[in-house]
Amino acid sequence: MAIKPIDFKSFPTTRYQGSKRKILPWIYDSLKEIRFRTALDACGGSGSVSYLLKKMGKSVTYNDKLHFNYLIGKAIIENQTYKLTDEDIADLNGINPEFTYKNIIDSTFKDVYYLPRENRWLDKVTNNIINMNHYQQNVLQYKKALAYYALFQSSLVKRPFNLFHRKNLEIRTNDVERNFGNKTTWEKSFDHFFKKFTAEANSLVFDSGTYCRATNESIFNIDPYYFDLVYIDIPYIRKDGSNESSNYLKCYHFLEGLSRYNDWESIIDYESINLRLKNIEQQNDFSEEMIYESIEEILLKFRHNKIVFSYKAGGVPSIEFIEKIMKKLGKRVHRNSMHYKYALNHQNGDAKNNREVLIIGT
Ligand SMILES: C[S@@+](CC[C@H](N)C(=O)[O-])C[C@H]1O[C@@H](n2cnc3c(N)ncnc32)[C@H](O)[C@@H]1O
Repeated sequence: MAIKPIDFKSFPTTRYQGSKRKILPWIYDSLKEIRFRTALDACGGSGSVSYLLKKMGKSVTYNDKLHFNYLIGKAIIENQTYKLTDEDIADLNGINPEFTYKNIIDSTFKDVYYLPRENRWLDKVTNNIINMNHYQQNVLQYKKALAYYALFQSSLVKRPFNLFHRKNLEIRTNDVERNFGNKTTWEKSFDHFFKKFTAEANSLVFDSGTYCRATNESIFNIDPYYFDLVYIDIPYIRKDGSNESSNYLKCYHFLEGLSRYNDWESIIDYESINLRLKNIEQQNDFSEEMIYESIEEILLKFRHNKIVFSYKAGGVPSIEFIEKIMKKLGKRVHRNSMHYKYALNHQNGDAKNNREVLIIGT
């Protein structure tokens, strides 16, 4: 049977650190050469690779340790049917006199990430998502997940660098010349983006005809037996320089808080300048110190699965280290690599070359 070409233009547009969105066609070229039916995207992030696997007709399990990412997986991978109606979207943006509204963001995050009116908008819409109640639970879970998808994407595009690692609202508000970022985008309203991203979320829903699901586990706790193939894209640890951005909870704690809104106040680290979550370092499973042991543990766990391991040159450990372990575990190993030019490097504002590698063990 002829394979239908994949239209990569209709994929999620998420701006997410380490997202493979732009190199999906190249990943697809490798995946389509491997025989498998069930797949685990163990560190799913924006869901772009899971979405590719779903488009390929695979039975895919999207997984990520962060809860907000898991909701994205529910919305666009597990969900095969439900969309937000115009009425749902209007309700999400309105005020319902029957609801009691909490104002956690407005009262806690003043001058941290958004303007006061934007904080109030975020409180309003988050309360509306939590209180959505027109549907049965089996439908509601996906409607809410789609609404969260739009809420998270709207929150990301309005942030300098699309991150929450610094309290830096002044980058938006200072009247200075800048050679980075996108002031026009930041200044568009949340209403504008929510409309755009609810439409995007809806457009991403399709029925692949094959069972797909989303889970919210640490990769170290996943049962490997259900999958023919596992795609592994762990946080990138640089050989040199700062590894601040490899801690995803540090970069995206605000979205994690939004996804756990009713508990948020009890898990904020009020001592931190940017009001991140408590114990952010302890929750990080991929520290520089432990990365060799962590990778060995992961490869051992998935030794009976076909493995596709994403790697970026300049990282720790070396490609050779990963290949050596795979071979020791009895795998046939080969690698595919490509040069990839990032449009903008956040650290220095320059275009930069990187080498993306897939280490494939079958
Ligand atoms: C490099 S990103 C994945 C990017 C993804 N492939 C994409 O295209 O968007 C790494 C992901 O690993 C997740 N992560 C970190 N520690 C994890 C763990 N112990 N188990 C599962 N996921 C984890 C992070 O939340 C992050 O989303």
